Amino acid sequence: MFNKKICVVGIGYVGLPCALMLAANGCTVAGFDTDEQKVRELNEGKTKLEKELQAVFETEEAHRNFSASTKLQEADIFVIAVPTPIDEDRKTADLAALKAAVKSVASVIREGNLVIVESTVPPLTMKNTVIPIFTESGVDCGKIFLAHCPERLLPGNVVREITYNNRIIGGYTPEAAELAADMYRLFVKGNISLTDDTTAEMCKLMENTYRDVNIALANELSEVCLALGIDVEEAIDLANLHPRVNLLKPGIGVGGHCLPIDPWFIHEVSPYNSTLINTARHINDGRPGKIAAIIRKYVSSDISQKFILLGQTYKPETTDIRESPAAEIYEILKGEGYSVTAYDSEVGSGKALLEEIRGCTFAFVLVPHKRMLKELEECLARMKETGEQIPQIISF
Ligand SMILES: NC(=O)c1ccc[n+]([C@@H]2O[C@H](COP(=O)([O-])OP(=O)(O)OC[C@H]3O[C@@H](n4cnc5c(N)ncnc54)[C@H](O)[C@@H]3O)[C@@H](O)[C@H]2O)c1
Repeated sequence: MFNKKICVVGIGYVGLPCALMLAANGCTVAGFDTDEQKVRELNEGKTKLEKELQAVFETEEAHRNFSASTKLQEADIFVIAVPTPIDEDRKTADLAALKAAVKSVASVIREGNLVIVESTVPPLTMKNTVIPIFTESGVDCGKIFLAHCPERLLPGNVVREITYNNRIIGGYTPEAAELAADMYRLFVKGNISLTDDTTAEMCKLMENTYRDVNIALANELSEVCLALGIDVEEAIDLANLHPRVNLLKPGIGVGGHCLPIDPWFIHEVSPYNSTLINTARHINDGRPGKIAAIIRKYVSSDISQKFILLGQTYKPETTDIRESPAAEIYEILKGEGYSVTAYDSEVGSGKALLEEIRGCTFAFVLVPHKRMLKELEECLARMKETGEQIPQIISF
């Protein structure tokens, strides 16, 4: 019987699913957040959650065991899931929220408690940031347990992801890793691997860096192919016939709140050893500008020519526009005075696609949402029927 009281510090995209899964599995869970409105809405049941997470929230057990508060209470285990954004100018992690969260926990922590950091952090954050804050606050870190357990979940399917994804748990001591694993085993059905805190911090960043660097390679190859007049898609398909090659498809850039950010957390701690990572980041960050240049070539110098960009989110089938390269392309072209509109079936622009696309000479598909492609097909069929001018469709 696991009868520990758990406090989840930061009940956002990551913290709330963890808190609810623990509550639905019999733990008493207090969600602590500094956002008063978020806490109020949660307690009043007004928060908009994904369907499956809502179902967990509404279980009798979760209802009985979970409560949210703006006041931090004592607990046996503290799970910290606060934001760790990037300082855009310095390209380093902004750990202000994490530092504040650790300070709050330090004010209520007792001997024998376990603290798990779930936030994505640069390697050595446990040793160089978390532990010194506890020590300065008078907490003896030899008498508490500390672990880092990075979260890999993807919004859109959180209950499935949080249940079946494999987890890495890095303990500051092996005992801390074991204790944290006991908690996660309550709801995780994926494999749980134990390691030390710094390795766990690094693993999470390596996963996203692996994706970013491989995408950068595909994007760079596409730029070389463009310059040489080679069809990059055909070249990649043929190269991938090699048994040990698996090139990704080039795209319009990299977005969201993980891939464009996490590689910098490696670079900041070891810049001289991470030149490839640095270069990949610049290649992917430069993609929207390169795509805008390709679009300019299509629409010629006549900036009054009307055209439309289809898709504004950072990837297909999401409503998330954070760090979206498609949104950046729109901003570049709009800023130059082009007669450009943007439409996204998932975000909703107000007007119907048919209305937006009328009179356009080009429609550039930046993010191929399935629903939007179907709408596009229907619009084109309708315009054909009525004899209207059909825009040329260019897909990236
Ligand atoms: N969202 C994802 O899909 C995802 C996936 C993997 C990892 N992560 C990482 O998880 C961490 C949390 O991200 P998120 O998306 O859940 O962020 P979020 O913004 O959705 O939620 C964080 C919550 O923490 C609260 N908060 C901020 N400072 C606080 C403090 N001092 N004390 C208590 N609460 C505080 C905020 O009010 C907010 O409600 C980040 O490090 C992120 O990089 C996120």
